[in-house]
Amino acid sequence: SGDKTFDFTVTRSAHPVADAKREAILANPGFGKAFTDHMVMIDWNIDKGWYNPRVVPYGPLSLDPATSVLHYAQEIFEGMKAYRSTDNVVRLFRPEANAARFNQSAARMAMAQLPEDLFVEAVNQLVRIDRGWIPTGEGQSLYLRPFMFANGVYLGVKPSSDYLFMVIASPVGSYFSGKAVNVWVSENYTRAAPGGTGAAKCGGNYAAGLLAQAEASEHECDQVLFLDAVERKWVEEMGGMNIFFVRDDKTIVTPPLGTILPGITRNAVMTMAREQGYTVVEEPLAIDQIYADAASGRITEAFACGTAAVITPIGAFRHAAGTCRIGLDGSNGPVTGALRDGLVNVQRGTAPDTHGWVHTI
Ligand code: PLP
Ligand code: COI
Repeated sequence: SGDKTFDFTVTRSAHPVADAKREAILANPGFGKAFTDHMVMIDWNIDKGWYNPRVVPYGPLSLDPATSVLHYAQEIFEGMKAYRSTDNVVRLFRPEANAARFNQSAARMAMAQLPEDLFVEAVNQLVRIDRGWIPTGEGQSLYLRPFMFANGVYLGVKPSSDYLFMVIASPVGSYFSGKAVNVWVSENYTRAAPGGTGAAKCGGNYAAGLLAQAEASEHECDQVLFLDAVERKWVEEMGGMNIFFVRDDKTIVTPPLGTILPGITRNAVMTMAREQGYTVVEEPLAIDQIYADAASGRITEAFACGTAAVITPIGAFRHAAGTCRIGLDGSNGPVTGALRDGLVNVQRGTAPDTHGWVHTI
């Protein structure tokens, strides 16, 4: 891959957002509320393969009511960020890893495979045309949302004969307000079962998690932590991020892959932690053991990680029977802070990229 070029047709927006309005949005973008002037679309048909790659003005879609995704939910997505430094270099973090995971999700949902270099080029096209939409403030970036759905028109239950791949972009600030987050341990709902779709980034996983997330909010928690579906005992992941624990013996632990999303941030954290001298262990973690280890001080820190969350410290776990505080005061622990700084500095280009993770545009 890499030598193939794709001919994107580019239609510039005749009505881009006015500079003053865009600057006002970039000063305080929130998360996923505002969108850039353009979007990418590529069609797939069972006979033609991928065709008509194009950059077009951002705008609504028109769908037949029998469009397959509206009934059987064949839909997958990715999440990644573009960072712009003060010297105007734009950086993507490991876009080829998102491209590879997209195809793993597609395979699980019986959808068409998208060539990885076409995925990356589609993202590049959108970032290039809308680079004026990348905020440069602390914690800010342009969130990129590649996605694909079944747009065949029929009601038969079978893989679609047509798919639409798209990329949209949204300027964003920090996903969380900054301090440590509180996490609700869901005992009523699970997210993924063995043999199910937990490792795929499909929209249905998120729909299934919304009620648990609402329960978390009712308990004044920012995120929900899911346990395994079989024994309701083993820690899996949160609604939209992976989880790590720091032990007092320079060990960092996280649940193994299988029914969880294989996070790209998770993978980078494991690599960086090893380089910083930690032993990194992927092993099943019983929630009751977590509570006991937090109380005894064996676990000193916990954090969430993902594209949106970056690395966010966890202050406490709440569950039906009580609250489990992490560390002394639930503040940003030193290990979490060092990992976060290390990651953010590579992503934003203020530290050298020794792993070939950064792709400049
Ligand atoms: N787990 C879930 C359920 C997610 O939605 C995400 C976010 O994409 C992650 C984990 C973290 O993955 P990544 O680090 O690739 O963003
Ligand atoms: C991401 O981090 O990209 C996600 O998809 C998670 C969601 C909370 C926005």
